[in-house]
Amino acid sequence: MEKTPTIPAIILFTLTISSLYPKASSLTREQEKQTLLQIKNFWSNPTSLQSWEDNNRSTTTTAHCNWFGITCSSYDFITDISLPNQNIYGPIPDSFCNLTNLTHIDLYDNYISGQFPTSLYNCSNLEYLDLGQNLLVGTIPSDINRISSSLVYLSLEANNFSGDIPPRIGQLPNIQSLILDNNLFNGSFPAELGQLHSLQTLWLAYNPFTPATIPLEFGKLKNLRFLWMTQANLIGNIPDSFSNLSALQQLDLARNNLTGPIPASIWMLPNLEYLYLYANHLSGKINGTIGALNLVNIDIGINQLTGTIPEDFGKLNSLTGLGIYFNKFSGEIPSSVSLLPSLTSVRFFDNNLTGVLSPEFGKHSKLWEFDVSNNRISGELPAGLCAGGTLTSVVAFNNNLTGRLPDFLDHCLTLDNIQVYNNWLTGDVPSGLWSALNLTTVMMYNNQLSGTLPQKLSWNISILMIANNRFSGEIPSRAENLLVFDASYNQFSGEIPVNLTGISRLQFLSLQGNRISRGIPRSISALRNISILNLSYNELSGEIPVELGSLPVLKLLDLSGNQLTGEIPPAMAELKLPFLNLSSNKLSGEVPAGFQKSFYDDSFIANPDLCSPSTVLNVRECGRKSNGRNHTSVALILLLVLGGLALLGMVLFTIVVVIKDSKGRRIVVGLDLGPWKLTSFFQSLDFTAERILKGLTDENLIGSGGCGQVYKIILGNCSGEIMAVKKIRNSKKLDFRREKEFRAEVQILGTIRHTNIYSETHCLHL
Ligand SMILES: *[C@@H]1O[C@H](CO)[C@@H](O)[C@H](O)[C@H]1NC(C)=O
Ligand SMILES: *[C@@H]1O[C@H](CO)[C@@H](O)[C@H](O)[C@H]1NC(C)=O
Ligand SMILES: *[C@@H]1O[C@H](CO)[C@@H](O)[C@H](O)[C@H]1NC(C)=O
Ligand SMILES: *[C@@H]1O[C@H](CO)[C@@H](O)[C@H](O)[C@H]1NC(C)=O
Ligand SMILES: *[C@@H]1O[C@H](CO)[C@@H](O)[C@H](O)[C@H]1NC(C)=O
Ligand SMILES: *[C@@H]1O[C@H](CO)[C@@H](O)[C@H](O)[C@H]1NC(C)=O
Ligand SMILES: *[C@@H]1O[C@H](CO)[C@@H](O)[C@H](O)[C@H]1NC(C)=O
Ligand SMILES: *[C@@H]1O[C@H](CO)[C@@H](O)[C@H](O)[C@H]1NC(C)=O
Ligand SMILES: *[C@@H]1O[C@H](CO)[C@@H](O)[C@H](O)[C@H]1NC(C)=O
Ligand SMILES: *[C@@H]1O[C@H](CO)[C@@H](O)[C@H](O)[C@H]1NC(C)=O
Ligand SMILES: *[C@@H]1O[C@H](CO)[C@@H](O)[C@H](O)[C@H]1NC(C)=O
Ligand SMILES: *[C@@H]1O[C@H](CO)[C@@H](O)[C@H](O)[C@H]1NC(C)=O
Repeated sequence: MEKTPTIPAIILFTLTISSLYPKASSLTREQEKQTLLQIKNFWSNPTSLQSWEDNNRSTTTTAHCNWFGITCSSYDFITDISLPNQNIYGPIPDSFCNLTNLTHIDLYDNYISGQFPTSLYNCSNLEYLDLGQNLLVGTIPSDINRISSSLVYLSLEANNFSGDIPPRIGQLPNIQSLILDNNLFNGSFPAELGQLHSLQTLWLAYNPFTPATIPLEFGKLKNLRFLWMTQANLIGNIPDSFSNLSALQQLDLARNNLTGPIPASIWMLPNLEYLYLYANHLSGKINGTIGALNLVNIDIGINQLTGTIPEDFGKLNSLTGLGIYFNKFSGEIPSSVSLLPSLTSVRFFDNNLTGVLSPEFGKHSKLWEFDVSNNRISGELPAGLCAGGTLTSVVAFNNNLTGRLPDFLDHCLTLDNIQVYNNWLTGDVPSGLWSALNLTTVMMYNNQLSGTLPQKLSWNISILMIANNRFSGEIPSRAENLLVFDASYNQFSGEIPVNLTGISRLQFLSLQGNRISRGIPRSISALRNISILNLSYNELSGEIPVELGSLPVLKLLDLSGNQLTGEIPPAMAELKLPFLNLSSNKLSGEVPAGFQKSFYDDSFIANPDLCSPSTVLNVRECGRKSNGRNHTSVALILLLVLGGLALLGMVLFTIVVVIKDSKGRRIVVGLDLGPWKLTSFFQSLDFTAERILKGLTDENLIGSGGCGQVYKIILGNCSGEIMAVKKIRNSKKLDFRREKEFRAEVQILGTIRHTNIYSETHCLHL
């Protein structure tokens, strides 16, 4: 009796549940599953779709809602297919839109081919379509307006679409993001884009459009936040109608042929955060009319802006970022700028600025980045840069700075990067610097700095370049993440640490021109990653340890100008070193057979007790006295030497070693043995870095080893120099075919420069 009421209750409950389902539901759900299986089959069963497996045909389960990349609505209808980066090949199957509830398709970064899939017009609920980074070709169909009117997001970026962007694209009533950059559009883009009232993001960059002016109609895009039209063949002026783009936060029109002055209206955009206009033919001055209160970040790298930096910048109380690099501004940086309360980022690099830096910089805001490099600034670095407790980067190389490094370096815990090379700085480097926990990069070469290094450096330091200063004491023996250590031409003394395991990640070590004495320790074998080892012109004595012959990735070994004695270990010949210099020592015995190659003809000179069984090397023949040769043989040898050098240069200047630093960023170090120096290379205004990135392809891979891959890159202008470029991000999949130029550009010019890209030519004094 008591239990009877529960039975109808259960039945009722069951009925309620099933009535929530739309009619004929079970059949449709089974069809949806079958549609997915057909799609999988259509794409030749890619391994990433392995989970798409019908294990149980007899029931109408909704298990497919849990298949990889599939999302269903609460009624178990498929709404999302999200399969980015899945190695999917082939066109879009026509059956996609049989999934009538589909709102979201993401196939970004696959190998989808064919023309624009007009079958997707049938997906009447589609809101989001990402076909970016695929292999699509042809034009965007002129009836593109037939696509779902619910469409909010459309990305076709990084495909091979060509022709015009059709005018009817202006009839997508709800579109908010239109991402069409990095294609081959070689026709026009329509003024009708200006009708897209909801549009927030418009990316047309990197397309070879026929040269065109920016349509005035773009001024109607009241909701536009991000306009990206880098390298899109724009000509003419920036229209005044831009003053209506009241929502605009980021404007990037760089690398076009825009001319004329920067319109005053740009300065009125109330929400502008980023402005990139570099590499155009815009000209003029930034005058005192900047009035927008909410302006928070400006990066104007225009080659031709002249004049002085207006004092009025100091009125922009909301300004957080100020970048006016790559121009020809002269005069002083107005001290009003240093008083701005919101300023976090200061980029004045590559101008013609003179005068001294206001000592107030850093004292009134939470500054994290300060870059005044490549100017003619004199005086001292501001003492309060780290006062806000957020400073990560101080970049002031290539100026006329004098005086001591500021004391804040003693306790600036946030500092990551300091580059003050090529100045006239003097005095001791504050010793606390070496224990700053986040410090990764220290470049101070070519100053007159002094001081000592502690035995143990901060854990994160990966680049330490202090050549041509007056540092003294011993070299450190603990620096867990040190990759590049150039201490050439200082006054370091003492010996090479006996236990080298504490610096075993080193890939580049140059101690040339110091006063290091005693022997080369056998523990040198701990430097398993070393590819460049230069200990020349020190006071090293003793024998060359046989362990040097077991360094797996050594490319360059220079021990010249020391007091080394004994025989050359034959094992060293097995390294097949592209560069070896043991000259000007006191080595004796026979040069091992493995070195009897003209390649090494100059590697052993000025070792009076050394002899060679053959005449290949520029060394006395065994059994002969080392007295004068006749003129013809000297001339001949000279010719051979020069020829060998030329060959060496030709072979070697293209060797590039890719290194990963402690943060997984990549450094590229190349060798140029022509002028006998190692220099680092910098992307010029023309973004040679792009070329380098493009050069890092499998095609150019000429070898790999413990230190990473070795690539061959022809450097054009930079031949004759060694390069150091850090790559930007750890992409899980290195796709240089489509390495986003956007990122390369905005990031290289923006945040990356400081820690990742070293400008100018660094002489590492090999
Ligand atoms: C998709 O729907 C069409 C018409 O409704 C039908 O002819 C076709 O067979 C369906 N395709 C699949 C894969 O279910
Ligand atoms: C099929 O699904 C039903 C219900 O979910 C289950 O009872 C049955 O064991 C499944 N059969 C197989 C072969 O997996
Ligand atoms: C989802 O699909 C079902 C079956 O086709 C249909 O009845 C329902 O209207 C769709 N829902 C939406 C929001 O389109
Ligand atoms: C889907 O689109 C194609 C081509 O656009 C069309 O031929 C077909 O009839 C459509 N199918 C359905 C089910 O609407
Ligand atoms: C896309 O264009 C590039 C450059 O023109 C070309 O190398 C590539 O083969 C094209 N790919 C396809 C799928 O058309
Ligand atoms: C645009 O590119 C397409 C595909 O490469 C080509 O067929 C067409 O001739 C080009 N049009 C113009 C105007 O260059
Ligand atoms: C843009 O300027 C460059 C260099 O001045 C020139 O080579 C190119 O032809 C110009 N392009 C257009 C579309 O004016
Ligand atoms: C600044 O530029 C605006 C418009 O370009 C101009 O009207 C104004 O006279 C200029 N002011 C100064 C001080 O040069
Ligand atoms: C830099 O400014 C000085 C005047 O301060 C001027 O004489 C010189 O030509 C400028 N250099 C460049 C490259 O503009
Ligand atoms: C910078 O210093 C160098 C060397 O002392 C000097 O020749 C040059 O005139 C200085 N330049 C400025 C702008 O002070
Ligand atoms: C060091 O860097 C890490 C990661 O960027 C950050 O979370 C941390 O706050 C930094 N430490 C200091 C003292 O700035
Ligand atoms: C060498 O130094 C490392 C730490 O840098 C230490 O762990 C190891 O025990 C030392 N080895 C010897 C033989 O002293």
